[in-house]
Amino acid sequence: MHPDIIADGVWRVHAKIGSRDLFEGIWPIPQGVLLNSYIVKGTDKIALIDLVKDWEGAEGEVTRQMAELGIKVSDIDYLILNHMEPDHTGSLADFRKKNPRMEILCTAKAVPLVQTFYGVYDNVRAVKTGDSIDLGGKTLQFVETPNIHWPETMMTFEPESGTLFSCDGFGAYGQYDHCFDDELTREERELLSTELERYYANIVSSFSLFVQRGIAKLAELPVKIVAPSHGVVWRREPQKVIDWYGLLASYMNGPAEPEITLVWSSMYGNTASLLSAVREGVASEGVKLYELQVPQTHESFVLEKAWRSSGLIIGMPTYEYKMFPPMYHVLDVLERSHVNNRKVMRFGSFGWSGGAQKQFDPFVESLKWDCVGNVEYQGAPSDVDRQKAREMAAELARQVKGWCAR
Ligand code: FEO
Repeated sequence: MHPDIIADGVWRVHAKIGSRDLFEGIWPIPQGVLLNSYIVKGTDKIALIDLVKDWEGAEGEVTRQMAELGIKVSDIDYLILNHMEPDHTGSLADFRKKNPRMEILCTAKAVPLVQTFYGVYDNVRAVKTGDSIDLGGKTLQFVETPNIHWPETMMTFEPESGTLFSCDGFGAYGQYDHCFDDELTREERELLSTELERYYANIVSSFSLFVQRGIAKLAELPVKIVAPSHGVVWRREPQKVIDWYGLLASYMNGPAEPEITLVWSSMYGNTASLLSAVREGVASEGVKLYELQVPQTHESFVLEKAWRSSGLIIGMPTYEYKMFPPMYHVLDVLERSHVNNRKVMRFGSFGWSGGAQKQFDPFVESLKWDCVGNVEYQGAPSDVDRQKAREMAAELARQVKGWCAR
């Protein structure tokens, strides 16, 4: 891999991370992920924007690409830390050791994290919205964008080329051989379409209100290039990814897409036995249905589809007077991620006693879900249960269509 020229005096230096690890220790990345850092070189000074963690040799790869540009770590005058999560700062202590003189610029909220994560106390300057530095013919302006993704986060704007270094914002999972949006192959575009949304749902969705605020703030900047620290660089259609994030953020309050996600678990087949009736009901209204079985499917993928769907169907049996435990975990994840304001139904079997619905109801209230009803039965479903489920799923689909058409 080689450095990519983003604009005059601006390069991306990056690493490809494979699929062996979990992102944040939680989320599968079967298609890998990119860690992008950026060099901005003026006539007087050199800045490095965001670091990497030493993950699959990423630190060595980034410094090797810097060397291709004739830049050593000791040549860096400013290290800009847009965000303190260790995927963008993990190599900080090592960089500091190699270059004690470089000045670290970050928000005031990031300063204690620089100290406590990495023991770095000297040559750290807090910057705020409106502050800038002059590199000689190149300027870096700072914009605080709290909670995209942590409270200390900011973005950096280089006005000469109109490049916005957005760190996690406008990012995506996935490895891409091509740097820019206008270079992607059809396969890469297809990968991006799902891996951007799964990344958003997994990493950013809880902070959707802050995404909306951040986008409003960025509207004041003449952005021509969006350069995130995960995923591809947007130079042909920078507004496309900004609008895409705006749309994803709007899903928090609904409606999202006119689609339904069916998440289901079954112990001995009695809950699963109602699936065909549910499918028939949704299909009768022509609404797109995603189906995900848990625990067989990781919650990362459930969250991706649930985030974009205006309707949810939860199928789960009672297990020892409560919800089937893997589904409780999924609902906890949906609650943490603010999958609010959805049209919902639930079905499921119980043995000697019910109980799942009682534990399910507080989630409905907390997530402000509009529940069209539930179909709960002892043992196997009867023909009456099947008919009820078919009609309820059709009603849910009608409500989803009507809501999204408004
Ligand atoms: Fe890519 Fe919030 O770190």
